[in-house]
Amino acid sequence: MQYCRGSHTLPLRNTPAFLPHSPLDRAPEAKYPEGMQVLLTGSSGWLGQTLAPRLRDAGHRVIGLDVCPGRFTTAVGSVADRALIDRTMRDHAITAVVHAGALHKPDIVRCPASEFISVNVQGTQNLLEAATACGVDRFVMTSTTSLMISNVIREGRAGGATKAAWITEDLRPLQPRNIYGITKFAAEHLCRMAFQDHGLPVVVLRTARFFPEEDDMAHEIEQSAENTKANEFLFRRLTVEDAAEAHVAALERAPSLGFDTFIVSAPTPFKPEDCEELIADAPSVVARYFPHYHDVYRRRGWTMFHAIDRVYSARRAEERLDFRCKTGFAEILAGL
Ligand SMILES: NC(=O)c1ccc[n+]([C@@H]2O[C@H](COP(=O)([O-])OP(=O)(O)OC[C@H]3O[C@@H](n4cnc5c(N)ncnc54)[C@H](O)[C@@H]3O)[C@@H](O)[C@H]2O)c1
Repeated sequence: MQYCRGSHTLPLRNTPAFLPHSPLDRAPEAKYPEGMQVLLTGSSGWLGQTLAPRLRDAGHRVIGLDVCPGRFTTAVGSVADRALIDRTMRDHAITAVVHAGALHKPDIVRCPASEFISVNVQGTQNLLEAATACGVDRFVMTSTTSLMISNVIREGRAGGATKAAWITEDLRPLQPRNIYGITKFAAEHLCRMAFQDHGLPVVVLRTARFFPEEDDMAHEIEQSAENTKANEFLFRRLTVEDAAEAHVAALERAPSLGFDTFIVSAPTPFKPEDCEELIADAPSVVARYFPHYHDVYRRRGWTMFHAIDRVYSARRAEERLDFRCKTGFAEILAGL
């Protein structure tokens, strides 16, 4: 059973694809005159609905595929359905893939582990194999910073940590703490293998949080949802628009990068040498970088977290992908 997010749920396994039923040997559509023919999975989702129009603006043609119907979704069905993937790639003469469709954290409570493996692992392999067979020349996979967070990092100060974890793409060992992280990590390896064995250029974007909902641990957080999100722009959040923009940049640069993995998060003002103080007294560190933040926050009745126990560094994406999020804490503060 696959669910659509939102108030309604649909038993999608039996939902027929919206795709015009065409024989596999049908001649591909004429190649889009400019730009690429992009297969975008997860096109009905939060990221997909922001990314699809952005890709169109960049001159690409977007073929959306999602288990849920949506404005930008051409093919309704699962990435786990290999025949659908093959047909979609061939019928639309796909030249590039952006794979954002997935089961993710909110799905853990409603989907068994086997469903995560089927969608996130087998689904990714289906797309990679079909992409290789169809001569697709680039592939972007939406991954997650969550796979870098072990139970030890997550426990932070409560677990006895004396400094915040400074997280880069080089962090080792990686011990994802749930089925979401484990299946995304496996999918990343499948991407690497597709490059290694078939030369398919793949860029993996380990994206920090950009969801609009409340944190699922909100009951344990003293700050309001809005206050929490603002604080997170310092070390672990980005806007959905920036997340979409990172995908556009990755798509453009994939052929010159080959295979690469990037953390995508708003630029942090912090430095590795702040890590001890961040876990002991985060408000003082923030005040050093943003002396006026207290006044702005006080007017709203907001507060900073007492401790910050991890910081995602997006430096590598700046250096190698030439991508930097437009919105960081400074911009959030200026808008308050
Ligand atoms: N939202 C975040 O904060 C966040 C953070 C890091 C990474 N991500 C990743 O970003 C991507 C998009 O997330 P989102 O926030 O837009 O989530 P979302 O749930 O709004 O969108 C995901 C979409 O994938 C679709 N989907 C689920 N199973 C599918 C299947 N079997 N075949 C095809 N489509 C399927 C869903 O129907 C949904 O429309 C995901 O890969 C997620 O893991 C999200």
